[in-house]
Amino acid sequence: MVTEFSLQIIFVNLVWIKIVKFFGGFNYTLTWLFYLIDVVNFCGLAALFLEMLKDKSVADETIKSFDNTSTPMASIICFDDLKKLINPIWTPANIKVHPNITYATNEEIRDALETTNQDFNQPRKMMLDIFSQEAPLANSAGGLRPVLVHIHGGAWRMGSKNTFYPFQKLMISENNWITVNVGYRLAPKNAYPTHLMDVKRAIRWLKQNIASFGGDPNFIVLSGDSAGAHLACMASMTANKPQFQPGFEDVDTSVRGVVSLSGSLDQISDPQHALFFCKRVANLDKVDVEFLSQHSPLAVVPTTKSLVPLLLVAGERDSLTESRMSKAMKVAHDQATAPNSTCTLVLLPVSLTRVCWPSRLLH
Ligand SMILES: *[C@@H]1O[C@H](CO)[C@@H](O)[C@H](O)[C@H]1NC(C)=O
Ligand SMILES: *[C@@H]1O[C@H](CO)[C@@H](O)[C@H](O)[C@H]1NC(C)=O
Ligand SMILES: *[C@@H]1O[C@H](CO)[C@@H](O)[C@H](O)[C@H]1NC(C)=O
Repeated sequence: MVTEFSLQIIFVNLVWIKIVKFFGGFNYTLTWLFYLIDVVNFCGLAALFLEMLKDKSVADETIKSFDNTSTPMASIICFDDLKKLINPIWTPANIKVHPNITYATNEEIRDALETTNQDFNQPRKMMLDIFSQEAPLANSAGGLRPVLVHIHGGAWRMGSKNTFYPFQKLMISENNWITVNVGYRLAPKNAYPTHLMDVKRAIRWLKQNIASFGGDPNFIVLSGDSAGAHLACMASMTANKPQFQPGFEDVDTSVRGVVSLSGSLDQISDPQHALFFCKRVANLDKVDVEFLSQHSPLAVVPTTKSLVPLLLVAGERDSLTESRMSKAMKVAHDQATAPNSTCTLVLLPVSLTRVCWPSRLLH
């Protein structure tokens, strides 16, 4: 939170200091002490913000590697782009939203109710939201638009589809994509792999219906953050696998690509996490290595026949879903698709320490 919202935290603290001042708080020595600590904090937060600006050059280099004619993105230190970055409720003009569309069949809804003692919150998680431009750009040459389907994170137990992420807003306003947020049922009420099956049910609905909303059913890309990235990878690597498509075994659930944001991609290496995934996500009694090897994306890569292009984005400062998982995924994906690579790893660096080394700055 602190590294992602450094400017917002400075702003909130400034307001807070103003309030304390208004009520005469600065007549006390203790207040000045806290004020001093705040000023030191502000310097740290400002440094974190400056560090984040370096991510722009990482992004520019990545785009250049795909398209050598691309020009660097506009600086984000101008008001127009800064407000997209800072204002959490900034939304592009002309967005059309189709909210809360059920993707489950009536039979699946009945099952969802039966297995949870008629909990009506469960079928409400089997819904999706579609976002698109109200009036597509004149130069977009008609035709169906590519579709980005985002799967939310939350450790397979929390979260909802109701966050409309800034990167989705930019995909719509600048690239005229259609983006979709999908919900799915969560543990502990629903044991994994129900999560994965729900994502596939959503893909089934999109293949059959997204053309009516201007989306191309043959160009669906999955994205996800954290646990959502795990589900995105798993859905792409188990496409058309009948055991995860109960009742819709024959439906084509293949996708064109996957974007993993801070993905939780390794369920095996860390014993604590393996235990968590087996007991608290899959509702098993104990760690089941065979089960994990079938549901840890890192382990599934070598056994997958047709891997789709994969974009991995990970922060080196991330202590929750460590970047080592994305690095290992890049190696595994490259090995499986050798001699060609269709995997791109974007590491957002920790660069503050580098500032101390003048020789590095010369490069
Ligand atoms: C970009 O790549 C193409 C083919 O890969 C090459 O022909 C062209 O010269 C490159 N352009 C630049 C500016 O490097
Ligand atoms: C979908 O429904 C939920 C709960 O009824 C609501 O909070 C949410 O805002 C709706 N989604 C959209 C995009 O309107
Ligand atoms: C690698 O790419 C080349 C050129 O696109 C292609 O001809 C070849 O079949 C690919 N190799 C594999 C193993 O996919």
